[in-house]
Amino acid sequence: MWLKSFLTPHYTLPNISGGHDTPHVVRMCAMAPKLASVLTFDSDEFETAVWMHNIDRSKTLRLQVDKAGGFIAYCVRLLAESPFSGEEQNRIAIAVRDHVHKEEEETDSQLLLALKAADKMDRFGPLGILAIAAHRGSILPAYNENRPFGYDTIDEEGLDSLYNDVFRVMTWYRHMHSDAIRELVDKENFRFYVEFARQLGKEIAEITQKPPNEVEYSVQKALGKHYFKFC
Ligand SMILES: [Fe+2]
Repeated sequence: MWLKSFLTPHYTLPNISGGHDTPHVVRMCAMAPKLASVLTFDSDEFETAVWMHNIDRSKTLRLQVDKAGGFIAYCVRLLAESPFSGEEQNRIAIAVRDHVHKEEEETDSQLLLALKAADKMDRFGPLGILAIAAHRGSILPAYNENRPFGYDTIDEEGLDSLYNDVFRVMTWYRHMHSDAIRELVDKENFRFYVEFARQLGKEIAEITQKPPNEVEYSVQKALGKHYFKFC
């Protein structure tokens, strides 16, 4: 992969924020065959979009990204040196730009849907829980002592605790574009994720002694109509 040797040092800790490192990218790339069973995309475009999607998380690329005029401008510049045609470069750049919008849109290309799905699925298990802690564990408390079961936002900017982040990620299951894509989620890992959240709520309730334990309400809210699968 043409970007792999260039990006690997920038995606190696501590040069990138936790959970966005090379192993995250490699795991996402490995999902290509699975995703190709329900989506139609070019595997080289997918791999390139996956490698590019975390460029803005790299501390060692920050200066170059700023000089280029921002994340997407930097990606466009990299793509100009790639073997892809203009149309392919455009599709990749749009996928990289829009993958941050976690709710899938009808206008999303199949490439963008694949990128969003891979990024979500990599969080739905034990490694995803570690990624949440690795990424925000030193800047957010595990729970908000005043309002331990607060779960008001799925906006990264508004998070007040890792508890909130656990449920932000859980909502992605509901947001997935179709049942066909949702079926690709590793059920055992996602069930573990939901059970972890429940156990987290139980422990927080015991420690804070602020009953009632509202974690089940958070699970219901996050999963919506899919809650019945995880009761
Ligand atoms: Fe990612």
